[in-house]
Amino acid sequence: MRSAREDDIPQLLDLWREEVARGRQDIVPGETRLRRMLGRFDWDSKSRVVERDERIAGSVIVMSRPSPDGVLANVYAAGEPDVYLGMVRWGVEFCRAAGAAVTQVFVGKDRGAGFPGLGLRHVRPWWRMDRGIGDGLPRPDPVPGYEMIDGRTVHSGSWADLFNGTFADHWRFAPRLEAEIVSDKSPELCLMAVTSAEREPVALTLGEIERYTGDPRPQPVGLISSVGTLPGHRRRGLATWLVADVLQRLQAAGAHHLSLYVDGENHTRAYNAYRKLGFEVAFEAEVWEATFP
Ligand SMILES: CC(C)(COP(=O)(O)OP(=O)(O)OC[C@H]1O[C@@H](n2cnc3c(N)ncnc32)[C@H](O)[C@@H]1OP(=O)(O)O)[C@@H](O)C(=O)NCCC(=O)NCCS
Repeated sequence: MRSAREDDIPQLLDLWREEVARGRQDIVPGETRLRRMLGRFDWDSKSRVVERDERIAGSVIVMSRPSPDGVLANVYAAGEPDVYLGMVRWGVEFCRAAGAAVTQVFVGKDRGAGFPGLGLRHVRPWWRMDRGIGDGLPRPDPVPGYEMIDGRTVHSGSWADLFNGTFADHWRFAPRLEAEIVSDKSPELCLMAVTSAEREPVALTLGEIERYTGDPRPQPVGLISSVGTLPGHRRRGLATWLVADVLQRLQAAGAHHLSLYVDGENHTRAYNAYRKLGFEVAFEAEVWEATFP
């Protein structure tokens, strides 16, 4: 076992493609996106690979961020059947030693065999919901008293406050910085609702165009994320309006399919809003956790 290196990325992508074939993951991130995400990653301490016959047979990467629950860590493991659990174990033990309060592993439904023996507990379902475009998209329905603006006119700095305000009551919320939220997105796909009177930001929805190689969905895919409404403005149709609008914008930007991810036990039942907009569960995953409060 050794630390992974940036120049392992092409081999890691091959290994991660096998994770999709085994049903443990639903996607492999695109290489450009991955290199950007791992730009300043501490490969030496936070990754390991196992080699066999001069090729990588297993890998694990750990990422973490501060949250109100303490440090929240994610273990991304991959590997051939006889090495996979060992990679997950390395990740969980590393997180424990590094002081993470919560360590999470996301894995396809019913693919977590052996996880309880590593101190992990199945805590909730996690879904990818998809929608085709062929049947026509829902019409955006503006909500009286609010206006919609996009990233071309939003004041910089306001996305993070709004994101962190709308997601504060989301399960395992971790605050984000402005750059993490919008810097890699097209401004016309970043939508915000503001009150008409005070121009106060109250809801957001972000979209982006992604291309996944070897994926059965018609490509490219329009991905919707960060759907949030401040508590005092919920149940008025704001999220439905913004999501319906971003779907149209994603189609105009070339998307041939639409996807989003949602916590299957979301306490505000976001999945109901998505179902009403024509989305259906397309991939079921499970969240497993080891907690060391
Ligand atoms: C989920 C969320 C974005 C919905 O925003 P919203 O502006 O209130 O959504 P809408 O008013 O368009 O509601 C659409 C539908 O969603 C469902 N819904 C929304 N909130 C709900 C709740 N608390 N309980 C049950 N259903 C709810 C309902 O079906 C609702 O339609 P209805 O009001 O006609 O019954 C908002 O509650 C939120 O910010 N939650 C915290 C962050 C989060 O979980 N985001 C989703 C991440 S995937």
